[in-house]
Amino acid sequence: MSTTLVIPGEAEVKSTKEVNRQGYQEFQIGQYRFTRDEYFAHIMYPGNRHIMQIDAFLRALMRDVAWGFFYGTVNFDTVFGTVNHYGTVEMFVGLFNEAYRKSNTHYVETFHSKDLKKTFEQILDAWTNEGFDPFAAPEETGEPFGVRHGNNTKAVQRQRVTARRMVGLPGDTPVRTDANGFTVNRQFADVVQDQPEIHANPGFENEVHAYNLFAYLSRSDVTWNPSVCSVVSDSLLCPTTEEYSLPIIHGNDRVEWFIQVSDEIFWEIDDKATGRPRAKVMMKAGDVAAMPADIRHRGFSPKRSMLIVWENNNDGLPAMHANGVLKPYPVEF
Ligand code: PHB
Ligand code: FE
Repeated sequence: MSTTLVIPGEAEVKSTKEVNRQGYQEFQIGQYRFTRDEYFAHIMYPGNRHIMQIDAFLRALMRDVAWGFFYGTVNFDTVFGTVNHYGTVEMFVGLFNEAYRKSNTHYVETFHSKDLKKTFEQILDAWTNEGFDPFAAPEETGEPFGVRHGNNTKAVQRQRVTARRMVGLPGDTPVRTDANGFTVNRQFADVVQDQPEIHANPGFENEVHAYNLFAYLSRSDVTWNPSVCSVVSDSLLCPTTEEYSLPIIHGNDRVEWFIQVSDEIFWEIDDKATGRPRAKVMMKAGDVAAMPADIRHRGFSPKRSMLIVWENNNDGLPAMHANGVLKPYPVEF
């Protein structure tokens, strides 16, 4: 089954007020229905159902919500996910899975982004129990399992940091300190916390700026959540701290660059359309890599590490890659 529906106007978002035996609300959008039990999320779609472990589902859902569907494809696993068309979003089963495609058992529906985001936000809040933070490293949070108990609304509504120009500028995202509630993470206890001195020539006080990025990252309370820390036109520097595994498999619609700032991340790189394995990349501190526009990738960070994701925010890029104006890789050696 390979239906693509564009839903005009407001999509019908049903969240039945009754709860199931385990205390969880059920949600419906378009022809999809979402339920959860003690261990699993169940995604019902015309003709079949997909099942995911609830911890993996909530961690992926948290990113999709916080990033507004991100760049390109957010695969929750090798079967289910979303494709961002910047205004609308496709929610799919098996669209980028070779076996589903060959047997024509994939399923796709298109929604207005704001409608699907609203449903996803509701599911995230209704299914996240007290003590579980989908953004936290597994060692630093409780379990998501069991019957409904409490909530963690504060954690799941966290806003992603998006600096307007640069962290630390007057009126922009502040640097992190003990005083504003960001303490140094257990795995970054050795990171020096001093700040650079800035000596701008008169008249350039608003043009020259610096802050200690290592100190900033050492105080991050979330994992796998690139935040925009400096902006120059379409160039977005998005540093992040990583521990355990990236909860999504990201299929990009443009090239993105990785700069490994500390420690190590192992990346699995697969073909974006089929999921066939393409490469394994081990990045050590100081390594730089360009991730092509025709792959999907997932990172594994055994120890908490610091990574800069460098994004190109030019909204013309997906079309330039799709119609071949741009090669999927940035450099020819
Ligand atoms: C990525 O998909 O490129 C990505 C996403 C989140 C991260 C790091 C990398 O924390
Ligand atoms: Fe990516």
